[in-house]
Amino acid sequence: MYSGNESQNESLKFKLIVVGDQNTGKSCILNRFANEIFEENYQATIGLDFLNKTVNINGQEVHLVLYDTAGQEKFRSLIPMYIREAQIILLIYDITNKESFESIPKWFSDVLNVKNDEAIFALIGNKVDLNDKRVVSFEEGKKLANEKNIIFEEVSAKDGQNFNELFNNKLFNELYKKFKNKFDEIIRKKEKEQTNNEYIGEDNEISQNTNVKLDLDGNNINYQKKKKKKCC
Ligand code: GTP
Ligand code: MG
Repeated sequence: MYSGNESQNESLKFKLIVVGDQNTGKSCILNRFANEIFEENYQATIGLDFLNKTVNINGQEVHLVLYDTAGQEKFRSLIPMYIREAQIILLIYDITNKESFESIPKWFSDVLNVKNDEAIFALIGNKVDLNDKRVVSFEEGKKLANEKNIIFEEVSAKDGQNFNELFNNKLFNELYKKFKNKFDEIIRKKEKEQTNNEYIGEDNEISQNTNVKLDLDGNNINYQKKKKKKCC
């Protein structure tokens, strides 16, 4: 029999992690996505931060844990264990900072060194609102992403440009395709739960009736009568 608690535990959960050089906007990207806010003041991430976000993917509620890593060298030893758990890995650079783009192959190989067969990767050029200060072209970014065979998008955590395209159209579509069996499993469990609840509902109505009558085969007459009423 299903209880309310079980059904709560049966929601879909995935983990997303951002990596990249310091100051590229990793925390701002996650804040924009999770809380729809942007903060101009720079506060370097110390160690690692967590955020939570619930989204709807193809009609299913999905809980995302967002791991915000620090770009500073001294915290990098923390990153691998979170990469291992993640289903979505975002490699972030700043389109106004060439060095941050040149670091991407190193980030990519560091991530691949940690076993993670099932993850979805995306290369993201941030701060596209600062187009006049751009030093990394769209084509350069796209070319690198194509070479690595991963998703590519340019975004702005400041004004939210291309967030919908990146998350809803690209990442979540890919997540659904890659983990379709998990989505299907949840749908099946929910359908089963609904059927059980309907059955329990009927049963309860009968058990409230203290005057239960059985026919010669031991079947509950009240129950049969009730069923008959329903179908005719
Ligand atoms: P670490 O935690 O040190 O690794 O840095 P980070 O990658 O998390 O960078 P953070 O999100 O803290 O942003 C760094 C700076 O860039 C801040 O001053 C932000 O306000 C600014 N910034 C982030 N995203 C954008 C953006 O899309 N556009 C503009 N113009 N500025 C941005
Ligand atoms: Mg940060």
